[in-house]
Amino acid sequence: MKVLVVGKGGREHALVHGLWLSGAEVLATQPNPGMAEHARAVDVAPTDVPGLLAVAQREQVDLVVIGPEAPLVLGLADVLRAHGIATFGPGHAAAQLEASKDFTKNFLNRHNIPTARHVTVTELAAAQAALRTFATPPVIKADGLAAGKGVVVPDTWLEAEAAVQAFLGDRTLGDAGATLVLEERLLGPEISALALCDGKCLLPLDLARDHKRIFDGDRGDNTGGMGAVSPLPNVDEATRQRIWQEVLEPTLAGFLADGLDFRGVIYAGIMLTTGGPKVLEYNVRFGDPEAQVLIPRLGAQLADLLLATATGQLAGKTLPVDAPAAVTVVLAAPGYPATPRTGDVITGLAQAAAHANVQVYHAGTQALGETVRTAGGRVLAVTGMGSTVAQARARAYAAAAEIQFAGRQMRWDIAASVV
Ligand code: AMP
Ligand code: GLY
Repeated sequence: MKVLVVGKGGREHALVHGLWLSGAEVLATQPNPGMAEHARAVDVAPTDVPGLLAVAQREQVDLVVIGPEAPLVLGLADVLRAHGIATFGPGHAAAQLEASKDFTKNFLNRHNIPTARHVTVTELAAAQAALRTFATPPVIKADGLAAGKGVVVPDTWLEAEAAVQAFLGDRTLGDAGATLVLEERLLGPEISALALCDGKCLLPLDLARDHKRIFDGDRGDNTGGMGAVSPLPNVDEATRQRIWQEVLEPTLAGFLADGLDFRGVIYAGIMLTTGGPKVLEYNVRFGDPEAQVLIPRLGAQLADLLLATATGQLAGKTLPVDAPAAVTVVLAAPGYPATPRTGDVITGLAQAAAHANVQVYHAGTQALGETVRTAGGRVLAVTGMGSTVAQARARAYAAAAEIQFAGRQMRWDIAASVV
């Protein structure tokens, strides 16, 4: 099988590595040095839709796997499928579930999927009036894609008013903030529920948890994710059933009712409230760093599962169980997330990779001659696998400790709540 992977971060390294393990011949767009070990480089940007179509046709690939949201929102999958190319990733219409918070809230409410009460506003005066309809300061969400900067969870009314003013009044996020969703604030642990969807049926992956804040104890700024763990043994069976029956099944029913041909992975960000699971958001792709724990657990069956997803043949497939648990620890650059410094030399990569049951995924790295340097905010994700979360966690941290670069940031409590 010949597969083109679109994207060049940690998630895509996990995809490339898993596809290579599955025996596929892999091509990747502008791969980072880690990906380049197992994929042939294609010098086309992940958002260059005509360029990617041309590569897929010239190389006669059997499958295109789209990692990040930007090409999905641009409609890359629609273009590829229109030319008969099997594609993992939804088209433009379904990608609105990630690109527009208002679209998502309407989808959730239309299909009776539990979520926080919300008000959508487009005028400053209406936004200020709407604030007062909430008992406590609501969460302020810019409707459009804002690279993780579009959600404010205010503790005070003053902060809520300032966020509304900034997004809608001052347009600090440009058009992404021209429409706002104000949403009741929920409390509870957050989990990531991902499922493969072939347009007709779902194959749920095991639950995972991201760790979004930069510092231990969930303190400090929000990031893209500083580490992840799967499975979540302390989520009980009744809760799993509710996630399936109240969120994932009705999500698929919603796709079918709305005529959304969803082929790819649907990711529900869920808060486990005292009133049951509630959806905070959808993503229409693998999470990063959730991919770095979910994908290695699929082992050598990744290629088969992704192709079955793309071609509507998931029915009857089951998930492999060869890696019962995985934990990934992100190593980030100094200054991340606000102003990451790049260009620092990374040492210890070979030593870390020599650890058994460990996979080192590159995200923001660059090879310059014999040295590898930091080239982004999140630099590497070190995944440990094991028969228990505790074992996977110990392996991830032992390997991560081998890797050094100036100012390295890393959380020491990834998966601690699960062990
Ligand atoms: P989102 O992009 O919508 O998932 O929001 C980003 C983060 O903001 C989430 O991961 C939550 O930590 C937080 N958040 C979003 N919506 C809510 C809510 N209704 N109540 C509490 N926290 C929220
Ligand atoms: N880990 C969160 C995300 O990928 O959006």
